Amino acid sequence: MGEDRPCASAEVHLRALKPPPERLYGRVRGHQLRPRQQRLLTVTLPRLVYRPEEPWHPRELWLEVGFGSGEHALAQIDGHPEVGLIACEVYANGICSLLSRLVPDGCEAIAPLPPNLRLWTEDARILLRLLPARSLDRLFLLFPDPWPKARHTKRRFVHPGVLPLLGRVLKPGAEWRVASDDPTYQGWVKEVMAGQPLFEAPPPVAERPEGWPPTRYEAKALREGRRPLYWRFFRR
Ligand SMILES: C[S@@+](CC[C@H](N)C(=O)[O-])C[C@H]1O[C@@H](n2cnc3c(N)ncnc32)[C@H](O)[C@@H]1O
Repeated sequence: MGEDRPCASAEVHLRALKPPPERLYGRVRGHQLRPRQQRLLTVTLPRLVYRPEEPWHPRELWLEVGFGSGEHALAQIDGHPEVGLIACEVYANGICSLLSRLVPDGCEAIAPLPPNLRLWTEDARILLRLLPARSLDRLFLLFPDPWPKARHTKRRFVHPGVLPLLGRVLKPGAEWRVASDDPTYQGWVKEVMAGQPLFEAPPPVAERPEGWPPTRYEAKALREGRRPLYWRFFRR
């Protein structure tokens, strides 16, 4: 595959790409889906899926990995209509949660959808291999699954093995935002980012910066007395 060109057919490439060796996430299904959720997945989701072969040229392209219930992604597309956001999530209940905020019950097939949002519902690492080099202006990784046990470090998204994928798709100067409330993960991010050449890595801050909408996991962390850290890394 030409690393710099979007692929002709996402499905062919999904088959061609080796499955990532480690799963980075837990469940992809939670409770059994209700009929409304099933309609959202079968009728609305295909209307919003990111297809690399379809032309789409927003002024800037942003990517959110692991959008959870989608509150950050939706706030960003509302606040930045000129930007195109690809939001990734594998957890079906989370995907339904985002979609349910966009379309009223009964209008799954016809409600207008935001033109500056696309969804990717496979592992984000597959998308990182499909996107053209230097195509992303901004990347968000907010409260990634912490995988605190030492034997699970390979599942952490901030990982020396993932950084080259990010380095390839981010434009020079592009910003990568990371937040975590987990002390083990916080120490891990510091360690991984201190030992890599691809990103400028200033120290994190303890207050969420302006222009950085909150998420559900952040609210839970704060309620439970954990102290998030917020990083802004910049592609060299
Ligand atoms: C702890 S939750 C945080 C959700 C949200 N960002 C927030 O702050 O509320 C992490 C999410 O990342 C998703 N995730 C983990 N690895 C992923 C991957 N490789 N590709 C896409 N989503 C992933 C999980 O399914 C999970 O919903």
